[in-house]
Amino acid sequence: MSETNVLRPASQMMELTDRQKIAAGVYSVRLVPDEPMPQVVPGTFLDLLPGGLHVLRRPLSIADADEQGYTLIFRVVGRGTDQLSRSPLGARIDVLGPLGHGFDLDAVQPGQRALLVGGGVGIPPLYLLGRRLVERGVQVQFRLGFRDRNDIFWVDEFSALGEVLISTDDGSVGTKGTVAQIAQTDEARRFIPDIVQACGPTPMLRWVKSTLAPTVRTQLSLEERMACGVGACYACVIGDAKNPDHQFRVCYDGPVLEAEEVVL
Ligand SMILES: Cc1cc2nc3c(=O)[nH]c(=O)nc-3n(C[C@H](O)[C@H](O)[C@H](O)COP(=O)(O)OP(=O)(O)OC[C@H]3O[C@@H](n4cnc5c(N)ncnc54)[C@H](O)[C@@H]3O)c2cc1C
Ligand code: FES
Repeated sequence: MSETNVLRPASQMMELTDRQKIAAGVYSVRLVPDEPMPQVVPGTFLDLLPGGLHVLRRPLSIADADEQGYTLIFRVVGRGTDQLSRSPLGARIDVLGPLGHGFDLDAVQPGQRALLVGGGVGIPPLYLLGRRLVERGVQVQFRLGFRDRNDIFWVDEFSALGEVLISTDDGSVGTKGTVAQIAQTDEARRFIPDIVQACGPTPMLRWVKSTLAPTVRTQLSLEERMACGVGACYACVIGDAKNPDHQFRVCYDGPVLEAEEVVL
């Protein structure tokens, strides 16, 4: 099991200090807490109550973090994310976290290669992960799947860390299709990874598990629907491949789990 940030999470108010539209319906925001922050483990997430109108918090992965604050990237899909996209700079947002268990940085050594695979709103946490791996001397290749050219964000930021291979559903940029089709390209075939770390929709994770995980250690970040976010309600459970009597709570045991451990 990888390390965790939070054993006894407490909510706190954070200030929204920056907000940018970075693609069609996709925003980045920066949240700054009043208190000093712990070092963030890539793959962990924040649970937000945007505007206080909601009963349930909205989980968003940490896309980047420094000593002062967090950067989140999200797509507007409903009321919570819409409200966050409209919150004025200076707004105080109720935040729980960082929560969960993230990617295992020690799983790969300096000089080795990490393949980071992301789709849609599963792409943001791969930025902080990639940055931390590169700081450790690990070579990274990103394979990122978007819907179309209007959907694409942060290519320059990812490219500063390593090779970026893109797919779009309509072929408007990069390989036409999904990240599965990227695997057929020469650039992908040349990159033999020592670890695969992935985050995205369940069909993409199924493909990663069935095609990549049998030959190389693979960690998956799952983005199940959540309720409490802290392991108390069992709304987010997923099957344990090694024990039919046990289920993982994605919010607490994950969201990052070993591919061989989970039933997808
Ligand atoms: C650990 C984790 C990390 C996440 N990280 C990000 C992130 O970095 N960026 C990002 O944009 N989103 C992320 N999500 C998804 C995000 O939490 C949801 O999109 C958000 O909660 C929707 O809230 P809403 O009020 O806007 O929409 P709602 O009104 O709650 O829902 C609107 C629509 O979105 C669907 N939906 C809501 N949540 C999910 C989900 N988890 N998976 C699939 N469909 C969903 C609903 O079924 C509905 O159709 C993450 C989810 C999890 C569990
Ligand atoms: S959301 Fe409540 S246990 Fe995971």
